[in-house]
Amino acid sequence: MNYNFDEIIDRHNTNALKTDALLERYGDKNLLPMWVADMDFATPKPIVDALKLRLEHRIFGYTQTPESFFAAIVNWLKIRQNFDVKREWISYIPGIVKGIGLAINVFSEVGDKIIIQTPVYHLFKHLVEKNERIMVENPLKLVDNQYEMDFSNLEKIIDEKCKILILSNPQNPSGKVWEKQTLQKLAEICQKHKILVISDEIHADLTLFGNRFHPFAAVSDVAKNNSITFQSPSKTFNIAGIVSSFSVVPNEKLREKFYNFLIANELNEPTIFSIIAAETAYNFCGDYLTQLTDYLEDNINFVESFLQKEFPKIKMMKPQASFLVWLDCRELGLNHAELVDFFVKKAKLALNDGEMFGSGGEGFMRMNIAVPRKILEQALNNLLFTN
Ligand SMILES: Cc1ncc(COP(=O)(O)O)c(C=O)c1O
Repeated sequence: MNYNFDEIIDRHNTNALKTDALLERYGDKNLLPMWVADMDFATPKPIVDALKLRLEHRIFGYTQTPESFFAAIVNWLKIRQNFDVKREWISYIPGIVKGIGLAINVFSEVGDKIIIQTPVYHLFKHLVEKNERIMVENPLKLVDNQYEMDFSNLEKIIDEKCKILILSNPQNPSGKVWEKQTLQKLAEICQKHKILVISDEIHADLTLFGNRFHPFAAVSDVAKNNSITFQSPSKTFNIAGIVSSFSVVPNEKLREKFYNFLIANELNEPTIFSIIAAETAYNFCGDYLTQLTDYLEDNINFVESFLQKEFPKIKMMKPQASFLVWLDCRELGLNHAELVDFFVKKAKLALNDGEMFGSGGEGFMRMNIAVPRKILEQALNNLLFTN
């Protein structure tokens, strides 16, 4: 099947966060929305068709989770990520943010410390602080316009109150695909200090430009035995609103503790639609992913060459995965409020400002380029009218 990612689909008045929360969040409903991390492309047709078919049945009562749901996940992880996972390691979870929150509650106490490596997905901070844990930042190092983990600082900040490290793999906001050796080293340090690693791998399948994703639990036995992994087809196939995420916990003790909690509270039970969407995505939508990846790479190259030619003061960190582009705007010489104003008031663009991702995000902006090319062109052209 051929997918048309150039098609412009109006999302206004569907309660889409990206369009319909603009006025509330940015004070202007007429901005080009390039913030929330979902895509403005149609969900693959096989998923839409499978959901339609089920809707036609007209009864949506209690539904069991078929073994085919787990089989689709096991198969996808093996084929796409070379990740060998046993069926019993997997559970449905009601969203990745919720899953991380649940794991925080099961594996740490109020007042414990949790490490995040900033700049990083802003809800990590929210999850730690709103659950009354103490957030400890281990800022990433910027080396040759790419992020690296700062292991010597990590060793310095760790104390016996640190119980969990939340990893973004691949990394949001920069799109960095962590190298195997980096993850192995992280695993060693965390194991040595009895720190559980929660690996958020929601962007795993969207690797770009020939980069290879490494699931944290697959890099070593140490990593495998001291981690909880969260993945989902939600970003890859644009089905975040359907919620079909899952966890992978290879270690039996950790698994028993976490899954007993999920089962006790029926948090392991998917909805009818999550099952259908996930199974169809993983079984029948590989061709969509191939075409999507090409389109995203072209969009990223387009942004890169546009900025180099027309707006060299803004520098792009080329993502190795996903559809988020991390823009270094420090050469504009603007403070935080001025930078936000520049994008919202002058360029009429709704981006995520870098400060929300924690230390190291100052002076950066995150732009979601999963939009039809025409919209991307319009967004970049808006920058030209800011002078
Ligand atoms: C790194 C990361 N984790 C989690 C999420 C959200 O996941 P969910 O909608 O399953 O809670 C996002 C969405 O942008 C994300 O980028």
